[in-house]
Parts: sequence; structure tokens; C-alpha cells
Amino acid sequence: MIQTLEWTDQGVRFIDQTKLPTEEVYVTCTTHEQVADVIRNMVVRGAPAIGVAAAMGIALGVSNSTAESTGDLKRDLDQICDLIGKTRPTAVNLFWAIRRMQEKFERIRIRPIPQIKRDLIEEARRMHAEDIAANQAMGRHGATLMPNDGGVLTHCNAGALATAGYGTALGVIRAAVEQGKKIHVYADETRPFLQGSRLTAWELMKDGIPTTVISDNMAGAMMSQGKIGAIVVGADRIAANGDVANKIGTYTVAILAKEHGIPFYVAAPISTVDLACADGSRIPIEQRNAREITHIAGKQMVPDGVEVENPAFDVTPAKYVAAIITEKGIARAPYDQSLRALAGQQAEVHP
Ligand code: MRU
Repeated sequence: MIQTLEWTDQGVRFIDQTKLPTEEVYVTCTTHEQVADVIRNMVVRGAPAIGVAAAMGIALGVSNSTAESTGDLKRDLDQICDLIGKTRPTAVNLFWAIRRMQEKFERIRIRPIPQIKRDLIEEARRMHAEDIAANQAMGRHGATLMPNDGGVLTHCNAGALATAGYGTALGVIRAAVEQGKKIHVYADETRPFLQGSRLTAWELMKDGIPTTVISDNMAGAMMSQGKIGAIVVGADRIAANGDVANKIGTYTVAILAKEHGIPFYVAAPISTVDLACADGSRIPIEQRNAREITHIAGKQMVPDGVEVENPAFDVTPAKYVAAIITEKGIARAPYDQSLRALAGQQAEVHP
């Protein structure tokens, strides 16, 4: 399995996703400031991977702390969480992971400081393992929705690289292929960061899953030609009513799917569901640097001085979503009820 990120004795090790697909290089962070940078600069990206990276960054920062009292350690923890919480605003998994590490600290704060440090590392590693298990469960649920023989379109990268391993949307595809389904993946290239052509195609080629890369503006034509039997994408944040924030361009795909009568599925762990967010209009959308639009591979493609927009995500209204595949089962409309019911099934809490 691709090692997107892992805890090592030297620090937190990431595959550098900005270098793929031509170079497979790894970076090791030894401080939480470095982890914040790799999240911000998208060396690691994808909502669940960002969450696990945040947890490991926090564990790293706390381990490096020289605090001699629990109160001082708590002050360091808060500063670390504050820095990591400012890296990327849309993927709720980041804030979910920060909260989980803070809650863990509160449960164990009476222990000796070296023990607290060890326990926070263990918690971050547990989150890594749980994410892989959640993706495999998601795959088992979602595979039933995939065509036995046909094309499946995906947007961005919701694969092993976007998670601790196996993937959400690509996990569903992987599980379907493992069950013997004959799936041909259509991967939107995903302008401007090209997660589809660089990362999704790289992962699927490694697995030997037949894949065709298309530019984003070809998706409608592929659907009208009958090449697409289902669509499955990931999510960065799902509001309580089922509205889905995901990579910019997802909304367009969902509308096209509706027009062509093709089911549009979202695969995401429960940690991506934000029940505190009533609907998609309240999801903060990250605005990224205009240079991602104006330059391609370092070459300027846009005249000097022209106005540019670069929202990294859009929101797909729940009415376009045929089902939301989670590790706890499949949610269908009305999502305000089905998501709450699935999210309410509490995960085991380790003291
Ligand atoms: O900007 P990115 O690459 O972090 O955006 C990633 C996506 O939009 C993914 O589809 C989403 O995080 C789900 S990943 C399992």
C-alpha cells in the first residue's frame, strides 16, 4: 500500500505529493511548524490525510516541548493546535483531529509528562490505523453501488494519497475491482492543481486499474456518450443537511450527472460530517494563490494584471447526491436524519 504519511523514529514522513507523478520523494518533518508547512503547501492533501497529519504534527510538537509542568505543556499544546488549525480552512477533518488530540490530552493530563507524550503519539498512530480501516469499510459498503461492468468518473484525488491509505472514493472503486467488477475509471484532471491527472492516475496505474484521464471540460461529453455508469467523489466537509464541499468542479460534475441520469455518490468518513454546520452556505471555502491559475508548470498563461479567482472547493447541494457512503453505512436523503443517525453511532473512546 502507498505510504502517504507515517510516524517514524525520525519524525513524520510524507510522500511529497507536489512532486508526483514524475518523482517519488519523501520528506520527514521533525517539528510541528514543518508539518504545518507541508499541509499548507499541499505536500500532503486530501481531507482525511490532513486530519491524520495534523494529529501527528500535534504529537510531534508536544514531544518536542521542554515544558516541565502539565500547565506549561497544555499552553504549548494550545499554541501548536492554533498554528496547525490555521493551515487550511475547508477540510473539517483538520479541526476534528485537533479536537480529538485536545480531548485526549484532557483525559490523560494527570499522568507524568513523558507518559502524556507517549500517549499522544499513540493516539495519532491510532487515528492513522482507524482511517485505513474506515476506508476499507467504506469500500465494502460502496462497492455494491458500483456498476458490474462500466465507467466510473471521479474528480480530484480521493485515494490512498488523500487518506492514511486505500482511499475513500478510490477505496470504493478498489473494493469493487477486488470483488471482480470490471471498472474503467475516468479521472478528471482537476484544474488547477491537477490532483486527478497527477495523483489519481498514478495511484490507479500502480494498482493496474484501467484509467483514462480527461480534462475537466470533457466530463459532459463522456456522460452523453454513455461511457459513465456512476460517479464517486470524496468530500472535505459535509454539512448536516447533506450539502457537500469538495474540490472545485465537483458541483459541475454533479449537475451534469443529474442531467444524464447518472448516480452521483460521495464517499467520506464520519469525521468529514460536520453536524454543527447546518448547510453548505456556512462551509468556509479556501481561496488559494492566483498563481495556481495564472501559471502552468512555471509558465505564465494569463496576461499581467487580469483579475483571477481561485476557490479551492465548491459546494454541491444535497439534492444532487444519490448517496453518501461512510464507514458506518450508506446514508440517503433526507440527509439531516440519515447522517445524524450514522454519526450518532459513537466510536470507541480509549482512555
Ligand atoms: O485541495 P485538496 O487536494 O486537499 O482537495 C482534496 C479534495 O477535494 C478531496 O476530494 C477530498 O479532500 C476528499 S479526500 C478523501
